[in-house]
Amino acid sequence: MIQIKTDDDVEVMRNSAKLAAEVLLMIEPYVKPGVTTNRLNQLCHDFIVSHGAIPSPLDYRGFPKSICSSINEEICHGIPSDRKLRNGDIVNLDITTYLNGFHGDTSRMFYVGSARKKVSRLVETCKESLQRAIELVRPGAHLGDIGATIQNIAEGKGYSVVREFCGHGIGRNFHEDPQVLHIGKFGEGVELKKGMVFTIEPMLNEGKPDLKILPDKWTAVTQDGLASAQFEHTVAVLDNGYEVLTRLNGQTDF
Ligand code: MF3
Ligand code: CO
Ligand code: CO
Repeated sequence: MIQIKTDDDVEVMRNSAKLAAEVLLMIEPYVKPGVTTNRLNQLCHDFIVSHGAIPSPLDYRGFPKSICSSINEEICHGIPSDRKLRNGDIVNLDITTYLNGFHGDTSRMFYVGSARKKVSRLVETCKESLQRAIELVRPGAHLGDIGATIQNIAEGKGYSVVREFCGHGIGRNFHEDPQVLHIGKFGEGVELKKGMVFTIEPMLNEGKPDLKILPDKWTAVTQDGLASAQFEHTVAVLDNGYEVLTRLNGQTDF
């Protein structure tokens, strides 16, 4: 069942969502060659806790850390570790915060050191697909419009869309209905209504869409070992459009 948020709920959710966005802003200067993902995890954890919030991933279904960090061929749910980031890596940091009874969820890619041309095209395409999907959000639109837009952009550039993970309703729970698929057909699926709040979080692969889960039981990686990219925002359906709750005022980079 889709939980419709009141205007007051959305007002509270703004705070949690904005905090998650601020974590991504805070961490950016630390995402450099040589840093371990454990260090990034610790910095994010401390920032979240010092703002009176809880990092939602910690102990979520047994997840051992406060953020997800997914490098290169890792698609999502990578576990921070002592691994050092290297020049030319790409890494997704996925931040979810729980504040005043509501979750906010956002993630983005970072280039570690210099960006490689081949992989930056993938990353920028993923970012664009999320942005174009967000722009369609309004009452009367359908979830299929979101999926179709992402799928068309990705496949049009020769990339594939991960099927096994999707966006999700979000609110008092980390993951709520509906599932927000990143593939689909225009006009199909759930019709959007004011007060729905959900994430859109496309995962695009350089090669085939197939994935496997590592023995750590969390990290999803591409079967073919090629790169994967993901961006994520928490979006609210308003009377006549949308609001990206995880976008800070004046934020223009994604
Ligand atoms: N933040 C992820 C999402 O976008 C979920 C992470 S679940 C965890 O839905 F347990 F791995 F943290
Ligand atoms: Co997330
Ligand atoms: Co999410």
